[in-house]
Amino acid sequence: MRPKAELHLHIEGTLEPELVVELARRNRIDLPTYDVEAIRSRYSFTDLRSFLDVYYEHLAVLRTEQDFYDLAAAYLRRAAGQGVRHAEIFFDPQAHLSRGVTLETVFGGLSAAIKDSGASAALILCCLRDRGAEEAEQVLRAALPFRDHFIGVGLDSAEVGYPPSLFRRVFDLAAAEGLHRVAHAGEEGGPDYVWEALDVLGVERVDHGIRAMEDPQLVARLREERIPLTVCPLSNVRLRAVPSLRDHILPAMLDEGLVVTVNSDDPAYFGGYVEDNYAALRRELGMSDEQLDRIARNSFAASFAYEG
Ligand code: HPA
Ligand code: ZN
Repeated sequence: MRPKAELHLHIEGTLEPELVVELARRNRIDLPTYDVEAIRSRYSFTDLRSFLDVYYEHLAVLRTEQDFYDLAAAYLRRAAGQGVRHAEIFFDPQAHLSRGVTLETVFGGLSAAIKDSGASAALILCCLRDRGAEEAEQVLRAALPFRDHFIGVGLDSAEVGYPPSLFRRVFDLAAAEGLHRVAHAGEEGGPDYVWEALDVLGVERVDHGIRAMEDPQLVARLREERIPLTVCPLSNVRLRAVPSLRDHILPAMLDEGLVVTVNSDDPAYFGGYVEDNYAALRRELGMSDEQLDRIARNSFAASFAYEG
């Protein structure tokens, strides 16, 4: 299996149904069902929003530092088995703060799991764009005492209607703190969202970015500045950003000379971890070893913190 870095992975999206049930029992939280197959049967999505509804609902089971530890430890174990040598991991503090879970709890559990695993991994704090810029700025300020625990900021959740430019101040603050900057853009939003992420937020990588391909000038910019794109093929199919893997634009992105990487996004929900994404590209799109090797090399080149 080829060594790779994973750069687009939401730790909350690695919450497998088995762990949902285990944590619900541990924390005495009521679930509509405790049957993992019944839970999994809900994972048929029509768009990003329909997925996010289930994703946020399941977070109710994450309460204690041990819960966050177990979540991250499970991901890091699986990732190692998928050839991941380095991971830059998103987390959504607002989705926990709003439930009364503190930043101490979240950082404590995630950071301890990374440390104990011995893995090369770092955290990226994501702002929930549909909760607005003011709350995002408050959360980033509240997280600054934990500055040693994370390397960057990102932007996720419902994209359309929440353009990157709304978050200029948050990203200016991140830059002033020496944090790396990334943003989801061009998943459901158009190329204009990708332009804004670059020009207004100063992002160093674009998460998803598949709709950048609709704008040749933008493609030229991404190529010339070697701005990496963290593409998530199985996610795009499950959230119907593309009709099927066979229709995925990823090979064309590679042919355009873009720094494309392949990632799993929310693997517990989208039917596979990162190597499963690579395998699907080979199987469904007939991508060659040379192409997949190039993508894996790109993943290290596009990482912020890989040592070794
Ligand atoms: N897109 C946007 N926000 C998200 C995603 C995603 O795929 N996963 C978790 N939050
Ligand atoms: Zn994502």
